[in-house]
Amino acid sequence: MRIAVLKETASGESRVAATPETVKKFIALGATVAVQPGAGEGASIADADYAAAGADVTKEAVKGAQIVLGVQGPDPKALSGAADGAWIVAGLDPFGQRARVEDYAKAGFEALAMEFMPRITRAQSMDILSSQSNLAGYKAVIEAASQYGRAFPMMMTAAGTVAAAKCFVMGVGVAGLQAIATARRLGAQVSATDVRSATREQIQSLGAKPIFVESVAGIEGEGAGGYATEMSEEYQKAQAELVSGHIAKQDIVITTALIPGRAAPRLITDAQIATMKPGSVIFDLAVAQGGNVEGSKPDEVVIRHGVKIIGFSNTATHLAADASALFSRNLYNFLSAFWDKEQGKPVLDAEIGDAIRLTQGGKVVNERLLGA
Ligand code: NAI
Repeated sequence: MRIAVLKETASGESRVAATPETVKKFIALGATVAVQPGAGEGASIADADYAAAGADVTKEAVKGAQIVLGVQGPDPKALSGAADGAWIVAGLDPFGQRARVEDYAKAGFEALAMEFMPRITRAQSMDILSSQSNLAGYKAVIEAASQYGRAFPMMMTAAGTVAAAKCFVMGVGVAGLQAIATARRLGAQVSATDVRSATREQIQSLGAKPIFVESVAGIEGEGAGGYATEMSEEYQKAQAELVSGHIAKQDIVITTALIPGRAAPRLITDAQIATMKPGSVIFDLAVAQGGNVEGSKPDEVVIRHGVKIIGFSNTATHLAADASALFSRNLYNFLSAFWDKEQGKPVLDAEIGDAIRLTQGGKVVNERLLGA
């Protein structure tokens, strides 16, 4: 079993899909690992570190590989020479890169989209969305803090008192929870909201104040796999009113709301931004999926009504070393969990295999894609 590790080619992508730690572990399973030169550069991992871990560092890494590991989906042209039916294991952005998925099928590859990993207990350690969102939630707060012209914690000094920043987190999934925890650690006064009522306790347990729509009866907001569902118009109106009142008093707002397979819900309008204090900062973690905030632009600082609106097209890449370490472990945990010692390769079961497999036998086979 030959596993190839790609050097990412997408613009701004600094992460890598294997580290020397996971290379060693794959070799211990009986695989050989080949790494493209410079693959770890953006994550501060030298070719020599991969070689010391037992990998073959070569431009020909893909040649004969039965499994190809990437962070983002590779260009199918970069996969020529891989074994027939090779597995392409990466974050493949199946909805956004539909044409590429067709190309993987035509080339006979078995494309496995790690972001389609089901949210079941045994797959938690394989979940790239969680591992990367966690770091993104942290980075969003750090970035907002660095763009904010004031301090986060309350400080009592001889020259007078500095007030604590007020931080509001909208969307309390994995990223939102980490954003709350990070803003709290920095000393901000934190409040948070979500459409899933289960998050109320989680917000409180982190020492933040829950801000919830109480006026619309019968909302749950939780759909399959713990993900949010799209909310009714009545709810959206009530939420907008609630947010309008709250947001005007905030210094920092972090938005993280996503609904799988759809554009990000719009949570903050320009009119609401106009009610915020000049100097406030909004970090839109959903900017790459269409944005939660009106006017936000990926990788730009947009100033509206004196408020800075920021967001990265790829937040986790700004913490490339940690993000790579966690991403790589996700891939190792996945492949090793299914490793069949006798066959010397991973053999997937239906629950996880059917969920993540996009292509097989020359065709697109994934239900979510076929139904889209
Ligand atoms: P996500 O990235 O899809 O969405 C982020 C958050 O935005 C969610 O909490 C969602 O409810 C919220 N949201 C959506 N629309 C909104 C709106 N209009 N207003 C306010 N908030 C809105 O979610 P993420 O981070 O992937 O987590 C979703 C759930 O899945 C969580 O309960 C998490 O704990 C759970 N989970 C379970 C895993 C497992 O069992 N393997 C792994 C990871 C997460």
